[in-house]
Amino acid sequence: MTMSPEDSAEGPAAPEPQRPAPPRAGAAPGAGTGNGGATPESVARQRVDEGGLNLKPSGRMHAPASADAAGQAEAPIQNPVFSCRDVSVFYGAKQALRNVTLDVARRQVLSMIGPSGCGKSTFLRCLNRMNDTIPGARVTGSIKLDGRDIYDERQDAAQLRARIGMVFQKPNPFPKSIYDNVAYGPRIHGLARSRAHLDDIVCTSLTRAGLWDEVKDRLSSPGTGLSGGQQQRLCIARAIAVQPEVILMDEPCSALDPVATARIEDLIDELRESYAIVVVTHSMQQAARVSQRTAYFHLGDLIEVGDTDRVFTNPRHRLTEDYITGRFG
Ligand SMILES: Nc1ncnc2c1ncn2[C@@H]1O[C@H](COP(=O)(O)OP(=O)(O)OP(=O)(O)O)[C@@H](O)[C@H]1O
Ligand SMILES: [Mg+2]
Repeated sequence: MTMSPEDSAEGPAAPEPQRPAPPRAGAAPGAGTGNGGATPESVARQRVDEGGLNLKPSGRMHAPASADAAGQAEAPIQNPVFSCRDVSVFYGAKQALRNVTLDVARRQVLSMIGPSGCGKSTFLRCLNRMNDTIPGARVTGSIKLDGRDIYDERQDAAQLRARIGMVFQKPNPFPKSIYDNVAYGPRIHGLARSRAHLDDIVCTSLTRAGLWDEVKDRLSSPGTGLSGGQQQRLCIARAIAVQPEVILMDEPCSALDPVATARIEDLIDELRESYAIVVVTHSMQQAARVSQRTAYFHLGDLIEVGDTDRVFTNPRHRLTEDYITGRFG
């Protein structure tokens, strides 16, 4: 039987964890570096209830698979929004992801970390079928959203994407006004009953994205004229305007300065009251600050997933330990 990381990390009675293959020579150069980005300010903002980041070698990576640092089993995800089983992705003949089994909880942030090229974006794109748009890409396994297979041939990909907001690394506002950027999704999905209702959706979305006060007097100005951080918040407003169930974010802060990053992180924390959020990040400090669960990927394998505190303070696999302590690569 092949154990999945989900099983090994969270199964109530999981046997020995699957041992991943050792890193291939020359793979992922520089991994484990560049994960900082922590400023005194950002460290100070680290939430106290997270227990801090212990990036020292813990020496505890061989803890039993079914127990956390305190010897308690981690609870499986109840009623997950996404349930992914044995998901593999191929680009032509090349396999980019291998048998990923992972649940995404509601009203929680899941961060995905790992060295460049390990498959984080590939997995994120599986969740809204964006890999469909890549010639030669093939996805196998099962991904269920609210219990329904999103790769079922009866599932319309456009309708699916309306339920799953996506925010990219580089802010990508449409070449339209601020108002029209946010109104775009509600318009094409027919969500607004009237112009007043559309105005209300735009105002609410911009407010929730923390941008309303900065743009309320210039709603007809181009979205592309905003600062990078404002553009990213505009993209978040655009994503939430269609009332998605899940928001996917692929390195949403990597093009932003620390102040803009802090605003987006605060926003992620607020939005998780309403949405499930999956965020790819190269910053372990960011993963520790914003997420409740963390998944570590390595060369196409999901190595482990579990409570963020546990993954950072008591990683179960040497590969995770090496990565978070900066020894990998
Ligand atoms: N469109 C594509 N065609 C062919 N191979 C691809 C394509 N997209 C990604 N890959 C390959 O799949 C693997 C995983 O890539 P992916 O972009 O998912 O990694 P990542 O973890 O997001 O990396 P990074 O941190 O650099 O963004 C890599 O080997 C990459 O070269
Ligand atoms: Mg990526």
